[in-house]
Amino acid sequence: MKILFVTSEAHPLIKTGGLADVSGALPAALQALGQDVRLLLPGYIPVLDKLDSKRTVASFGVFPGQPEIRLLSAKMPHTEVPVYVLDAPQYFCRVAGPYQYELGGDWPDNPMRFGMLSRVAAMLGSADSPIAWRADIVHCNDWQSGLAPAYLQLNRGSHAKSVMTIHNMAFQGSFDRDWLAPLDLPQSCFDMHGVEFHGYLSFLKAGLHYADRIVTVSPTYAHEIQTTEMGYGMQGLLAVRNGDVSGILNGIDEQEWNPATDRYLAAHYDSSDLARKAAGKLALQQQLGLETDAKAPLLGVVSRLTYQKGLDMLLESLPRLLDGGAQLAVLGSGESELERRFQQLAQRYPERVSVTLRFDEGLSHRIMAGADIFLMPSRFEPCGLNQMYGMRYGTPPVVRKTGGLADSVSDAQESDGTGFVFDEADPAILYRTIVRAIECYRDEKNFRRIQLNGMRRDVGWAGSAQRYLDLYRTM
Ligand code: ADP
Ligand code: GLC
Repeated sequence: MKILFVTSEAHPLIKTGGLADVSGALPAALQALGQDVRLLLPGYIPVLDKLDSKRTVASFGVFPGQPEIRLLSAKMPHTEVPVYVLDAPQYFCRVAGPYQYELGGDWPDNPMRFGMLSRVAAMLGSADSPIAWRADIVHCNDWQSGLAPAYLQLNRGSHAKSVMTIHNMAFQGSFDRDWLAPLDLPQSCFDMHGVEFHGYLSFLKAGLHYADRIVTVSPTYAHEIQTTEMGYGMQGLLAVRNGDVSGILNGIDEQEWNPATDRYLAAHYDSSDLARKAAGKLALQQQLGLETDAKAPLLGVVSRLTYQKGLDMLLESLPRLLDGGAQLAVLGSGESELERRFQQLAQRYPERVSVTLRFDEGLSHRIMAGADIFLMPSRFEPCGLNQMYGMRYGTPPVVRKTGGLADSVSDAQESDGTGFVFDEADPAILYRTIVRAIECYRDEKNFRRIQLNGMRRDVGWAGSAQRYLDLYRTM
């Protein structure tokens, strides 16, 4: 089967969050199942810089009145997965992030940038494909490729089937209706049964309306987004399409995230030799300027600092935990208020708290390996990958029972427990759960059981890739 995997970020080329990890791993897992899967990605500066042996495979116009763009072809680093890159320098060769400029605002022409990505994806799945290869399935991810299913359906010729994977309903890509004409969308599709959502052009809504199948990244989240609390107003549409909606839990890249071989770690370990994890803790304490104390429970956080992640609740619980002897290592960036509050905490507890406010792939691995307990108290979490990295690294996670966290972590009280699970988004309950985790940490034998359960749990991509393939085959 010929599958085009359309994404706005993919590890190791460009990453802001979990979508990049998924895009870096799922296509390779599908390829391992014998499928002809290729990525389509915008040509941001780091993408062009990091890809070797690129060749131009087509030059063509995408929207009326726009200059031609080039389609480049290469291989994803360290794999045999082909990637097509949309080379449109005026839109993608910009310093700063893929979606935002340096001060954190969205690029004002994002509708054109990702409308173009969507349109090219649809072309590659249609009779008028600019290259000889033509996809049977166009697999879209999040709002940035949400218009592709619309372009496919509006095309009267024969075309590919489409899948829309929702990684996060909180990001919808809503824009003024004036964008319809530049994006070559007919006014007639600006309708409840089309791309319109509360008076705006919504890329996500377009994907959910026009895609042949809708997937979210965990079974629990698939259920949650059909409720008023978590459906962002799209629960009605999702309920109507219920038969086409499914949840497939993400996996993790077991080569990239393996404590026995991790290129970012000086000291390697595995489940047969967990004692060596202590060396990574010591190294981390030294690197971050924390007191080198093998016995102090070291709590780790690697996260976008946003409301979603529930870290404001954590900030309320922390002083008591730190006063009780715990240490904290935070890596993240995001909302300035959360950044400021974490920095204040680090000033107040210089030897117990380390806060690094930037994106740092290597440090994220070293925290995963060096921390004793990983904290992820998300208010909502479509899937979440960090809790799975934590389990794989023998760093049991504290998670709220929501979305993919509920589907991937079982509580320490169970015989197969891999972490510490709480229900209500409440700082006092979070505090008590972390205390429970620290008590367990001090009970070495029991903690070892939880660590080993997590390290041995199957969280690889093989099973989930097969589920995607089974879904494609129903279409
Ligand atoms: P989300 O996609 O909602 O941010 P996930 O848990 O699915 O959450 O994935 C987050 C990914 O981004 C993980 O690979 C995590 O390690 C990484 N990450 C988040 N913040 C940082 C950071 N500041 N530095 C390095 N990696 C980060
Ligand atoms: C989103 C979600 C996260 C998920 C990731 C990959 O960023 O917030 O829960 O793991 O996408 O699917």
